[in-house]
Amino acid sequence: MNSVSNLSLAANSSVGDIAFIDLKAQQRRIRPAVERRLQAVLDHGRYIAGPEIAELEQKIADFTGAAAAVACASGTAALIIPLLASGVGAGDAVFVPAFTYNATANAILLSGATPVFVDIDPQTFNMSADDLERRIDLVKAEGKLKPRVLMPVDLFGSPADYRVLSDIAERENMFLFADGAQSFGGRLDGRWVGDLAPATAVSFFPGKALGAYGDAGAILSRTENIKECWESIRWHGTCADRKDSVRVGFNGRMDSFQAAVLLEKLAIFEEELAARERIAEVYGARLSRVARPQQHARGARPGWGYYSLCVYNRERVLARLKAMGVPTAVYYTTPLHKMPAFAEYAPEGGLPATEKVAQEIFSLPMHPYLTPAQTDYICDAVESAVAANG
Ligand SMILES: Cc1ncc(COP(=O)(O)O)c(C=O)c1O
Repeated sequence: MNSVSNLSLAANSSVGDIAFIDLKAQQRRIRPAVERRLQAVLDHGRYIAGPEIAELEQKIADFTGAAAAVACASGTAALIIPLLASGVGAGDAVFVPAFTYNATANAILLSGATPVFVDIDPQTFNMSADDLERRIDLVKAEGKLKPRVLMPVDLFGSPADYRVLSDIAERENMFLFADGAQSFGGRLDGRWVGDLAPATAVSFFPGKALGAYGDAGAILSRTENIKECWESIRWHGTCADRKDSVRVGFNGRMDSFQAAVLLEKLAIFEEELAARERIAEVYGARLSRVARPQQHARGARPGWGYYSLCVYNRERVLARLKAMGVPTAVYYTTPLHKMPAFAEYAPEGGLPATEKVAQEIFSLPMHPYLTPAQTDYICDAVESAVAANG
């Protein structure tokens, strides 16, 4: 095992600055192509609903194997639209993990439904099917809410176990709607995120594995027939000629500039994904000895937007990593049921696995432009920082 216990920032300079996510390196690679795309938008002037939107939707559907894709203003819009389309509202239960970004629960509450928080599996950090079964039974026994939607989150890009979740959703007659905001590019049993659940929301926030230069997202469907309804909600609930409102909607559209950027990023996405995968393999091989990296469902290959692991004495480890020039981030220190906005939905007895992982989790730099030397340096640094924990 390499030891870097005496490494300083000066030593770090031999591997250069390590970025948590390096959007600049990516931009250097694609800038001329992006500029041509943006120029085309300036030339045709259709800033909303330009031809880039339909082109991106088709390419995303082709890439993922989804039957339809609807480009949205953000991952959040992509979460709200299918919930509105499903007709959920007061008295409806949406089963969701509390170990996620607040947008997941916000979307449920904005739709008028009630989040029922489910604990996570302590290894995959994704929704625990066992706890889900328990909470469905509890909701039914209590009789106040009707189980309507099952909303797993593919945390850190790792697809939830849709084999098991699909069976439960089918048995309980619930709509299975994946929050894949973090998992574009993930796969399960050879099928891409977007083709794993009847509906999937993805985010193209700039820091995501596929990121725009602003806010953007998309909804993916396994069937064609819901597309028109989602498009209508995305455009203030209007009918196809955009005149009459036929349902409640809002402005959930992606703009043409973001689609233009995403088209160029999608063109290099698979190559970038392979680079992320190589880095994750090195991290996994080296760091499983000293920490607990996220595990994945059988047959799952994450989109590797993040690389996350658990350690004891996290704050001390992170302080040492910082001193060694390794940037880190913590998603999430506070699970949703502990946040003021969602505390009234906290389950009795809490969510033990969620609460434990929230104390130990952190994420390492993960982007396709990390060099092998930087990846090794980061592994050396984690080994050394954990060893110093005693
Ligand atoms: C799990 C999850 N859901 C939803 C969202 C919301 O996506 P956006 O920021 O594109 O609205 C995010 C964004 O970070 C997320 O991580």
